[in-house]
Amino acid sequence: MPTDLSEAPVFRGVVALDGPSGTGKSTVARLLARRLRTQYLDTGAMYRAATVAVLRAGVDPADPVAVAAEVSGRRVEVGTDPWHSSTTLDGRGVDQDIRTAAVTAAVSQVSAVPAVRAQLVAQQRLIIGSAPTVAEGRDIGSVVWPDAELKVYLTAREDVRARRRAGELGEADLSRISQSLRRRDDFDSSRGASPLRRPDGATEVDTSDLGIDEVVELLVELAFRAVSTADRA
Ligand code: DC
Repeated sequence: MPTDLSEAPVFRGVVALDGPSGTGKSTVARLLARRLRTQYLDTGAMYRAATVAVLRAGVDPADPVAVAAEVSGRRVEVGTDPWHSSTTLDGRGVDQDIRTAAVTAAVSQVSAVPAVRAQLVAQQRLIIGSAPTVAEGRDIGSVVWPDAELKVYLTAREDVRARRRAGELGEADLSRISQSLRRRDDFDSSRGASPLRRPDGATEVDTSDLGIDEVVELLVELAFRAVSTADRA
């Protein structure tokens, strides 16, 4: 990957990157945004920050009415610089807090609440509408920005995803990690509001046997091809 990107072409469009966790989505999305010289939007970080608010307030994540009330009074913001993450809750940095096990365990319940989704999706659309963006999440290509020039759905075999997650967490119990991944995927895929699914028109990329750089190169090519096809249409 070139380190000096100042002369690299700028991608003028939106890339919607969806898929379950452990597929390399966050790393790929951030690197892709650097390569394409666009904004980077981590929508999972927004749902995680909302979950921090819920847990700090002592609200039960399983109580959708209380969750909606709590989150509606809070200001969740994410930075869009692919070189530097920043997530804030009411103006205070929560970059460490959003990655705790307690937040990971509760975020599926919080993100299933329709009012929470409506609030955060409205913000996501404002960000994406303001400039070219690589946005990652579960519903970007299906709900947030269905007109994205490129929609990609990343997948990976379950054993590979569990191994990647174990590496991130520094934990050795693969079967426990597999179980918790499966629980979160099942919850995210079966909820009523914007369930995780492959969006119409998305290119599915199985990352099980690919390195991160290979995935990024592939997506750079697909992205520029998508805008040049759109220009000709
Ligand atoms: O990508 P992540 O693990 O940081 O996402 C955290 C949770 O947020 C995940 O369980 C599903 C949810 N999420 C969502 O429902 N919609 C999105 N666009 C992004 C994340």
